[in-house]
Amino acid sequence: MKVPETIAIIMDGNGRWAKAKGLPRTAGHKQGADTIRTVALHANARGVKKLILYAFSTENWKRPQDEVSFLCKLPGLFFNRFIKELMVNNIRVTFAGELERFPEDTQNVILKAVDQTSANTGLELCIAINYGARREIVKGILHYAEDVVSQSRKNDLTEEEFSRYLMIPEEVDLLIRTSGELRISNFLLWQIAYAELIFTPVAWPDFNEEELDRCIEEFAKRDRRFGGLTS
Ligand code: IPE
Ligand code: IPE
Ligand code: MG
Repeated sequence: MKVPETIAIIMDGNGRWAKAKGLPRTAGHKQGADTIRTVALHANARGVKKLILYAFSTENWKRPQDEVSFLCKLPGLFFNRFIKELMVNNIRVTFAGELERFPEDTQNVILKAVDQTSANTGLELCIAINYGARREIVKGILHYAEDVVSQSRKNDLTEEEFSRYLMIPEEVDLLIRTSGELRISNFLLWQIAYAELIFTPVAWPDFNEEELDRCIEEFAKRDRRFGGLTS
């Protein structure tokens, strides 16, 4: 079966999942962190090269302070519990987004996981955190402009060269959004130009190996034409 090289997931529905169970929203985020483990291990086993997970958007700072504080603690809880398993499974952790706005201990825990797993050669697990696609594109343009001013680059640019100025240079093959919303919410605007899109009603805390397999099977059935004709 044709397995997507790069999968991106908008992990949505933690709050609604918790509310439906009479639990605080934070319980949904906690359960959602367990789903990250399950899905990363399974994507690795399926031979996916890169899994990009939207964990915190540049707009999520608008949420109540106590929820934001809890979300800042989640990377610590997650890596404390699962870093050994990620190592055993040869998974390499990376991140995309501006870490500077997070408390120092949150930044450190992420940088430590990146460092510890940097030699691993299996799945790249990329956590998009304080990530926004518009911010990413603006930063890429600023970086390019600096290179032009310093004359390390000429004033012309191909699409492929521009990709390398982004936090995530790869094309996304499959984009999944859980929990029923039919929108992109400022995720990977450049990289999803030709991605296959799957919107599932399943809330992120309930997403699992079978759901991922269903998405991969659906992807394999799609006829990706990239503007050309069916091969
Ligand atoms: C996704 O779940 C997690 C984050 C955005 C951090 P939500 O917290 O958005 O859950 P819903 O959409 O309110 O149910
Ligand atoms: C998108 O979900 C961001 C993440 C999953 C991290 P949101 O719940 O923030 O998106 P909207 O507000 O429903 O568009
Ligand atoms: Mg949401």
